[in-house]
Amino acid sequence: MKPSPVPAAPDPAGGPAGTDTATDTGARQDAGRSPGRVTLRSDLRASVPDGLIALLVTAAVFALIYARIKAKTSSTVSVMPFMADAGGFWMYFLSQAFGWTALLWAWTTVVLGLLLSGPTPRWLPMSAPRLERLHRTTSLNTISLIFAHALLFAAELVRHDTARWNSAVWTAFVEAFVPGGYDSGTGRWAMPIGQAALYLAIPLGLLFYVRHRIGPRTWRVLHRFVIVVYVLSVWHTLLYGTNVWYDGWFRTTVWLLQLPIAALLLGRLLFPARRSERLARPGAHTGPAAGWALRFTGRFAAAAVIAALLAILVSGNDGGRSVPPEDTSSTHNHD
Ligand code: HEM
Repeated sequence: MKPSPVPAAPDPAGGPAGTDTATDTGARQDAGRSPGRVTLRSDLRASVPDGLIALLVTAAVFALIYARIKAKTSSTVSVMPFMADAGGFWMYFLSQAFGWTALLWAWTTVVLGLLLSGPTPRWLPMSAPRLERLHRTTSLNTISLIFAHALLFAAELVRHDTARWNSAVWTAFVEAFVPGGYDSGTGRWAMPIGQAALYLAIPLGLLFYVRHRIGPRTWRVLHRFVIVVYVLSVWHTLLYGTNVWYDGWFRTTVWLLQLPIAALLLGRLLFPARRSERLARPGAHTGPAAGWALRFTGRFAAAAVIAALLAILVSGNDGGRSVPPEDTSSTHNHD
């Protein structure tokens, strides 16, 4: 991947460059209409290498899921015994595999974003502009991976629907993409949570490319809510993923992976790259008190999340269902 031709811009308030500098560098490039201007098209082209890596990872995860189904060691089959027919449900397993890569890419892009907008460690092997570009390309790929995950789930529904094709497509579309369209079991909540993550990711990710129209400051404020997309994604996975349905090391690992994100978020809030975002001592704060209270609450909430994650990890109480007995022929439904 070629480094961006534009060096990271210094914080207007004197701090180091951060995620937000994407706006600054981009805006400056826009103003000068330089040939190296970052556009959606240039980023889509740049996102091909990590997109190909994502596809390879998806293929590996699919092979693992498929092998576990065949070996009857997958918890997906414990939850839905009819899925033991690996060949009959391969699209569903491919959808699961895309779900895992979507989550991994979402994790990566959030880590990169927090490294850029918080205290960037000196030992990182990449320059800030390269990190920034990787952050943008992994974000674009995350959106595509989520979409592929949902689309394959819908395709599997169509394949198993005996109604006429147009009616089957419509039903699958409503169940996979319309909040409230899937109205039974855990899916009643888990599906809208996943859909909300997808539908928020699209504008919050893509608004960057029209930041010169909406204003860099508006873009920066909106882009912060991307963390909500990530939280919804993790929530959806832990609520609905049949491979993390039960207690156990894998589910606990998914929780464990949230610790670095929470720690980086706290670091970003306590030591933001932009000095103007730092939390002043109560007496030294200029501006409305509500603003100070909001900033303080954000930092407190991030610290509380770290404490909660540590409690989950230490207690092993990860919210998973209890593992069923060996004979699963009469177990529960996952709908
Ligand atoms: C329109 C949006 C979405 C739909 C329709 C959807 C659908 C589903 C369904 C039906 C499952 C259950 C699969 C199973 O049996 O394990 C699932 C699980 C999962 N989803 Fe989603 N999802 C959506 C959004 C997301 C998002 C935003 C992410 C993450 C970035 C995600 C990641 C996952 C993961 C990792 C699993 C667990 C798969 C497994 O256990 O193997 N999904 N999703």
